[in-house]
Amino acid sequence: MRKQAVDGMATSFEDGGMTLTTGLPQARHLATEIPGPRSRELLSRKESAVARGVGMTMPVFAVRAGGGVVEDVDGNVLIDLGSGIAVTTVGVSAPRVVTAVREQAEAFTHTCFMVTPYEGYVAVAEQLNRLTPGTHEKRSVLFNSGAEAVENAVKIARAYTGRQAVVAFDHAYHGRTNLTMALTAKNMPYKQGFGPFAPEIHRAPLSYPFRDGLDGPAAARRALDTIDKQVGKPAAVVIEPIQGEGGFIVPAPGFLPAIAQWCRDNDVVFVADEVQTGFARTGALFASEHEGIVPDLLVSAKGIAGGLPLSAVTGRAEIMDAAHAGGLGGTYGGNPIACAAALATIETIEAEHLVERAREIERLMKDRLSRLRDDRIGDIRGRGAMIAVELVRPGTTEPDPELARAVAAAAHARGVIVLTCGTYGNVLRFLPPLSISDALLDDALDVLSECL
Ligand SMILES: Cc1ncc(COP(=O)(O)O)c(C=O)c1O
Repeated sequence: MRKQAVDGMATSFEDGGMTLTTGLPQARHLATEIPGPRSRELLSRKESAVARGVGMTMPVFAVRAGGGVVEDVDGNVLIDLGSGIAVTTVGVSAPRVVTAVREQAEAFTHTCFMVTPYEGYVAVAEQLNRLTPGTHEKRSVLFNSGAEAVENAVKIARAYTGRQAVVAFDHAYHGRTNLTMALTAKNMPYKQGFGPFAPEIHRAPLSYPFRDGLDGPAAARRALDTIDKQVGKPAAVVIEPIQGEGGFIVPAPGFLPAIAQWCRDNDVVFVADEVQTGFARTGALFASEHEGIVPDLLVSAKGIAGGLPLSAVTGRAEIMDAAHAGGLGGTYGGNPIACAAALATIETIEAEHLVERAREIERLMKDRLSRLRDDRIGDIRGRGAMIAVELVRPGTTEPDPELARAVAAAAHARGVIVLTCGTYGNVLRFLPPLSISDALLDDALDVLSECL
């Protein structure tokens, strides 16, 4: 159990000596209605200055965050069950990250690794090669966003195999660039009106135990049959080991190993998109580990650098090195400040046993959520600190997006940041930072129970 001790404004955790330097009291506090007057003012400035296409979960503007809370401009302190969409896994402004960023910013902010390289980039690549599944020889390359890294994994797989076709899955989300929009399944809001999309992308059915009732091997046979009949031999199969935006869908046991085995047997590059699931989020350093999968290429981002923009492709040396010199890179890829933050993030995960903390959070959340079970909760699923509830019309499996929206809105009004997701928009998803205390989680779950 991780207990929280609030000492004036500073907050510390009893086990492991984890200390937060945010100075933020770790308790939910509503000073105004949500949104408050200052947020409403900023909202109106946002509407006249920022493109309408940029959505927003909660119309409150942040001033500080840390531990398990976000404070807004009106003095409201909200419980964070979103981690900025699975990014601040080690906590917002985690102390080691703050120190590393400050020191690196003072030394140099940028030289471009492709012009005059620096050690931080190499050190991050070494850590990724050490930490990702498999003991084979690996190489890594760094980018800025998850989508950019997914695109580059496809480039590398095409260079290695000499083939073009790529298989993605139903409910997949891989980003908003042209190629990753093509890989993404859901039309609204991600694709509508933004085509034409990159060619040679094919879609196979996923294992979705709550909806298809198939065991893993049967779901894999269905997917592989689709690939065989509609594609033949692609360059790559790209899959999220646990789907993120698609609804936190955990494939039935045996599905992922069967797909990975087929890839191995057919010399097809198996790409695990661990942008959302990586870096301790699911109670393993990478979600592939839950079923012993060793991806040929693994894409990471989000939780990798404690909130700074960084992403990576890590994989088998012979595949990674298939791209010619000068074929990979980008002006900012592997920015030195982001690399310093990533090294500090990895140190934090290891020193503070955050993989175990994610498992504790899973136990706590699943226990509390299972006590809420009624005929509107179709499924409770997920791993680690990546947990979801799929809402349905009473006694059916028919998705209930209106209920998901209403519960999320009610939670927001009570000071809890909750996100929704899923192809049908009927999934409440919980992604707390691993620095959250049990007391805050308990309070957030009380609020959810009230809202439901
Ligand atoms: C599984 C997955 N892949 C790719 C992306 C795209 O990452 P980014 O938004 O950093 O481009 C996301 C973002 O949510 C994701 O969850």
